[in-house]
Parts: sequence; C-alpha cells; structure tokens
Amino acid sequence: MTRIVYVNGDYVPEDQAKVSVFDRGFLFADGVYEVTSVLDGKLVDFDGHTRRLERSLNELDMAAPVTMDELLAIHRELMAQNDLSEGLIYLQITRGADADRDFVFPDASKVPSTLVLFTQTKAIADSPAAKVGMKVISIEDQRWARRDIKTVQLLYPSMGKMMAKAAGADDAWMTEDGFVTEGTSNNAYIIKDGKIVTRHLSNEILHGITRAAVLRFAREAQMDVEERAFTIDEAKSADEAFITSASTFVMPVVEIDGQALGSGAPGPIALRLREIYFDESRKAAI
Ligand code: PDD
Repeated sequence: MTRIVYVNGDYVPEDQAKVSVFDRGFLFADGVYEVTSVLDGKLVDFDGHTRRLERSLNELDMAAPVTMDELLAIHRELMAQNDLSEGLIYLQITRGADADRDFVFPDASKVPSTLVLFTQTKAIADSPAAKVGMKVISIEDQRWARRDIKTVQLLYPSMGKMMAKAAGADDAWMTEDGFVTEGTSNNAYIIKDGKIVTRHLSNEILHGITRAAVLRFAREAQMDVEERAFTIDEAKSADEAFITSASTFVMPVVEIDGQALGSGAPGPIALRLREIYFDESRKAAI
C-alpha cells in the first residue's frame, strides 16, 4: 500500500508530493514540527502537541496555515487513508517558499506557510527495546540556545545519534556546564532512592509533552519528583534511569557511558511508569 501524505491541502501518494526547492524549511531550517503518537487508531496528547506547536510558531513569528481544529481533521483523515492503528504522525510547518533565497523573512501575507504531514507505522506499545533497556553515552550539548522551540534544525541531534552508534550505544545524553540537558530526541530522567529527578523547564530543553504527562501520573501515584539539573556522575550512580518522548513513551536506560545502572536491567519504577503512561494514554486518546 502506497503511503498517502498531506501537502498544503492535498492528500497524495508519497511519490507525488512536492515542495519547492526555495522552501525555507529546506534552505534555512526555518520550520517547526510535532510528532504525535497513535494508539488504537487514536491520537495521544493531541491538545498538548497543538499547544506547543502554537507556541513554537509564535516564538518564530510564523503563521499557522490552518486552525488547530483543521489540523485534528487532517490527522484523522491521514490515519484513515493509511489505515494507521499504531505509530506516529509527523507534522511540519515552514515559512514557505519565497521567490528567491533571502535571509529576510518573507511577508506572511504574500508567502503562505508550507504544511506537510505523514504517518509512520511503529510498534510503540510492544517495543522490544523497552524489555532490555537502552544504553546512552554523554556528549557535549552544542545546539542553539532556544531548544524550547521545536524547530527542524536537527543536525546536531543526528550527529549525537551517530556518535552513540559509533560507541555501540543507542542514544546520547547531552551536557552543558556539566549538567545533563536532555537526550538527542527525548527528555532524560534518573531515579535514586525512589526519587525521580529530571531537569527543570527552561529555554535549555524541549518542554516534552510526554514529560508533562509522566510527571503528572508519577505525582498522582505518590511518587517523589524533583525538577532540577543533574550531572552524568550523579546519573551513573543512580538506581534507574529512563527517557520519555512521543515516539518511545517511557523507555528504560540501563547503561550510561559504559557503566551499568543497578542490576543492568530495566528498573521497576521506569517499567511501572511505562505501564501507567500506556493505560492513561489509551483512555485519554482522541
Ligand atoms: N522528539 N527533547 C527533544 C530534543 C525532542 O526532540 C523530543 C521529541 C523530546 C520529547 O518531547 P515529546 O515528549 O513531546 O515527544 C524532548 C520527537 C519525538 C522527534 O524528534 O522525533
């Protein structure tokens, strides 16, 4: 079955979708994106993703080409046309294609934004990786200073994943001034003596939608949560660690820079949070 993608108002087979070579997403990484997970043919945390999308657009003075209600309808139509029951929907908005390459933003009333969405099939609930846990290495955070905006400038995170791969690991945790910011495409957590520690919100990290939900569920389950920065040394001596994102949900981390955490297997609190997140997300998905 050929995948049907959405481009600026049209649903077309993926090999017929077209975007201009002058599109500013392509030339300047002048674009924002969201990734929403799909469980049982329903969208997880859709409101959170659209709220963050509106914030990203605002911060960059970029126009939304459709309303958030229209976006919901597009997500649903794409799920239906691609028969997607579990996986992800990727959405990207760029500042559109000007007449020529120009650093100056084009006039939004003359140059419409580009809107693209596509589906990805992925087994997120029954993930083999969650059973064994993942290995991370630490690398320096060399991204720009506005990581709270979900832009498509993902070269450094890609380089980080390649560094992890070369080191025989699954991902990298980035550090700045000695403290962990986040994973290349996820938020990072450690657990020590039952307390969950994750970096506080600021411009230094992406405000994860999964993070917000997981912390809420953890607090509701009377778990101890502390939002503050932590070092790699502290992480290495933690009992457990995990990451969160729309594409992995809660994923246990079992090794940091070659050092095994606890027993070297996914920890009980991380696995419990993963379970709670699934149960609650399935109930609330729309
Ligand atoms: N990444 N931090 C970074 C740098 C991210 O890129 C992501 C998401 C997160 C987690 O955010 P959320 O829980 O809202 O997915 C944190 C997506 C999944 C991606 O780039 O594919």
